[in-house]
Amino acid sequence: HEPCYILAVETSCDETSVAVVKDGTEVLSNLIASQIETHKAFGGVVPEVASRKHVENITLMLEEAVNKAGIGLQELSAIAVTQGPGLVGALLVGVVAATSLAMALNKPLIGTHHIAGHIYANRLVADIKYPCMALVVSGGHTDLVYMKSEGSFEVIGRTRDDAVGEAYDKVARAIGFPYPGGPHVDRLALEAEEAVDLPRVWLEPDSYDFSFSGLKSAVLNVVNQRKMRGEPVVESAVARGFQESVVEVLVTKAIRAVRAYDAKQLLLCGGVAANRGLRKELDRQCQLEGIELIIPPFEYCTDNAAMIGAAAYLKWKEQKFTALDMKAMPQFSL
Ligand code: KG4
Ligand code: ZN
Repeated sequence: HEPCYILAVETSCDETSVAVVKDGTEVLSNLIASQIETHKAFGGVVPEVASRKHVENITLMLEEAVNKAGIGLQELSAIAVTQGPGLVGALLVGVVAATSLAMALNKPLIGTHHIAGHIYANRLVADIKYPCMALVVSGGHTDLVYMKSEGSFEVIGRTRDDAVGEAYDKVARAIGFPYPGGPHVDRLALEAEEAVDLPRVWLEPDSYDFSFSGLKSAVLNVVNQRKMRGEPVVESAVARGFQESVVEVLVTKAIRAVRAYDAKQLLLCGGVAANRGLRKELDRQCQLEGIELIIPPFEYCTDNAAMIGAAAYLKWKEQKFTALDMKAMPQFSL
């Protein structure tokens, strides 16, 4: 058969990424330009700055990704791009680049959902067996997604306020760590000798939804009260208390969902999938329960274009293409 080469572009937030993926699973190149250093000074992602950086990066990265893959532009089978959700200005840069290229090369265009990308990152490392359950945990999302079959997504649970990564970043800031704070909190939590007692937020007994803003406020209250009383704030104890609460709720709901929907696999994805506390506990519980757990390597967990190429391949197989006048969709449902 003729190989399928998809050039994929991802610019939904603060990472510019371009990849070439062969036959949906073989990553020939996956370039990622992180803007973390730029946004650090502001304590978070500044949308306008993100758009400008994407513009600076994208053209050279497109060229480099194709060169690194060792193929010619005419060999490409399709151009894929994250259509949404995300920051509108950031998405637009990718959408304009991808549509222009598709037009110039006369290649089909495939608009892709960012979360479908995060989930299908798992295809880069394993065969997905349906029905399956995906736990998507990132700076912008906390979703439990049930997949009855390929290409079918049912969001059965979502955060009602902050995303889990966002809560990590805010807690990190409260105990004095720079953006993105998740990795710092993770490290401190695992080193800690004690844990501050914090609530678990379960919501209604049968709900798969999440809520992290109350927990985040509880952390801020503990920190502020100790400071006011002149007591020391033990950062590691705060980090561990917070992480234990987050992990317990995420793992419990994910396992319950796998059971209730009789899923064959649990797929973990999104930037917070890098969290060692979460991986460890999820792994332990899945082993106990006999559930197959799949976690992509770190470079495919955080925002990247290879995952967009993996997701787009499924549409390519069905020759489901997107019109060239495609719009960026900052709010885009799965
Ligand atoms: O998926 P991602 O790269 O971007 C979004 O689409 O949001 O996720 C970034 C988020 C940040 O909030 C970051 O703090 C968090 O993932 N993160 C972590 C860890 N590594 C990254 N959170 C907790 N523990 C980690 N080890
Ligand atoms: Zn993401």
